[in-house]
Amino acid sequence: MNPIYERGRTVTVRLAHPGDVEVIRAIRNHAIKHSTALWTQTPQSPAEGVAWLAAHLARGSAFVAEAEDEVVGFAVYGPWRELDGFRHTVEDSVYVREGRHGLGVGSALLTALITSAREAGHHVMIAGIEAENTASIRLHERFGFHHVGTVPEVGTKFGRWLDLTIMRLPLT
Ligand SMILES: CC(C)(COP(=O)(O)OP(=O)(O)OC[C@H]1O[C@@H](n2cnc3c(N)ncnc32)[C@H](O)[C@@H]1OP(=O)(O)O)[C@@H](O)C(=O)NCCC(=O)NCCS
Repeated sequence: MNPIYERGRTVTVRLAHPGDVEVIRAIRNHAIKHSTALWTQTPQSPAEGVAWLAAHLARGSAFVAEAEDEVVGFAVYGPWRELDGFRHTVEDSVYVREGRHGLGVGSALLTALITSAREAGHHVMIAGIEAENTASIRLHERFGFHHVGTVPEVGTKFGRWLDLTIMRLPLT
């Protein structure tokens, strides 16, 4: 069942397609500019956005959430680490458009990601979250992710050190 969203409207989640690239890039670049969700200050160029999404589309691991025909968020999962011994572990990313947080969109997207990763036969899903990102930590807790630990000062942005909280969900 689709979750009920803001004032009784419904949010639907579907697989992303190439035509979603610019709205996804805009949501991603907003997070790059204004938050510590993504640990870079370099926005994604149009060409980088196409290449990044294409890799996810090929795997069927990119989803968007729509409310009244407008994309209000996206989520992807992909390899946690590159070496083939890690191939049964994936890492998720969930981004909801500014102004649409706290309305169930992230939950709808994470539901789709977990279902898809399970169907694809993956074993574990990892989330790497900036330690002060309480919204994302709460979102992941809600789906049964457990805290593995927090690695202090492994990143930097906006002139300060960032700590990385690792959360883990068994899929099989
Ligand atoms: C993190 C994010 C994806 C959550 O999506 P969302 O649509 O806002 O979350 P939901 O409305 O589905 O809420 C999920 C849970 O998180 C909680 N939550 C949402 N926003 C919160 C906030 N600002 N502070 C604390 N908890 C929050 C909700 O209360 C809910 O928990 P509950 O079931 O106990 O009530 C969204 O806030 C976002 O896009 N943030 C910016 C990008 C980002 O940080 N992405 C994650 C990178 S690791």
